[in-house]
Amino acid sequence: MDAYHAALRFAMRTGGRLSDGIRLGYSEGFNAGVMVDYVYRNRPHGVTPLGTFIDRVMLNHPVWRGVRGRRQLLVGQVRTALAEAPGQRLFDVAAGPGSYLFMLPAGVGTLWAGDRDPDEVARGAARVAREGRDDIRFVASDAFDPATWPEPSFDILVASGFFDILDDIEDVRRLLRAGTVGTHPGSRWVLTVMEDHPDLALLRDVLVDWDLGPWVAVTRSAEEVVEEARPLGWEPVAVEREKERLFGVATLRRVR
Ligand SMILES: C[S@@+](CC[C@H](N)C(=O)[O-])C[C@H]1O[C@@H](n2cnc3c(N)ncnc32)[C@H](O)[C@@H]1O
Repeated sequence: MDAYHAALRFAMRTGGRLSDGIRLGYSEGFNAGVMVDYVYRNRPHGVTPLGTFIDRVMLNHPVWRGVRGRRQLLVGQVRTALAEAPGQRLFDVAAGPGSYLFMLPAGVGTLWAGDRDPDEVARGAARVAREGRDDIRFVASDAFDPATWPEPSFDILVASGFFDILDDIEDVRRLLRAGTVGTHPGSRWVLTVMEDHPDLALLRDVLVDWDLGPWVAVTRSAEEVVEEARPLGWEPVAVEREKERLFGVATLRRVR
């Protein structure tokens, strides 16, 4: 670890904890669904005005701006997929609290939100109850195991912020195989990828992932995922990039 990262690590783990977002990141993981949800809300909070200031600086980081831009694109592509036919069944394989699902109008289809973390599922279910969105259903499931998915075959899959955090290409392949088992020809898959990052070593040296270990991340272009998916029968229909050019959002269609 270089001196800059060592100093930043010390500062983040001490004074940085005045920021609600940084405290949340160190307790749940900076890539946990609940953390991403905090980033989407983009409302700085902290202990003391200094804590709120640190939180604002953190939320304004280009990567978090990119994450918010990614969500905008995701919602647009999911809306397009849902508009293709009435009553489609959608499954988000690693939804976290699935805040973008609540941005879709009610009645556009059946929206299933899966996550392996029971706390994320409980948070999502509580929001469903609060907002009366009985078209959204949260379920505990494993993205890699279609036998745990709530239905045998879906018209639309969503994977947001999930391909981005699979550092092993074998996991990408496992996920693509699972998604192929859990869909049919004609299904679409709306997914996000992290194509670039200003400082991956910072994630490893300074931040923690949801297991509270060093956050190991790799970048991967949308095209790389498309090439892995093609032999399984998936073809790209849309690829977009948010303003920071760090994240891509793609829709694939299963042609066979
Ligand atoms: C970075 S968050 C993304 C949350 C949300 N999809 C978004 O884009 O805002 C990644 C989520 O993947 C979930 N997750 C990790 N491994 C999983 C698995 N094998 N199956 C299902 N969910 C998983 C985590 O619990 C976490 O909520």
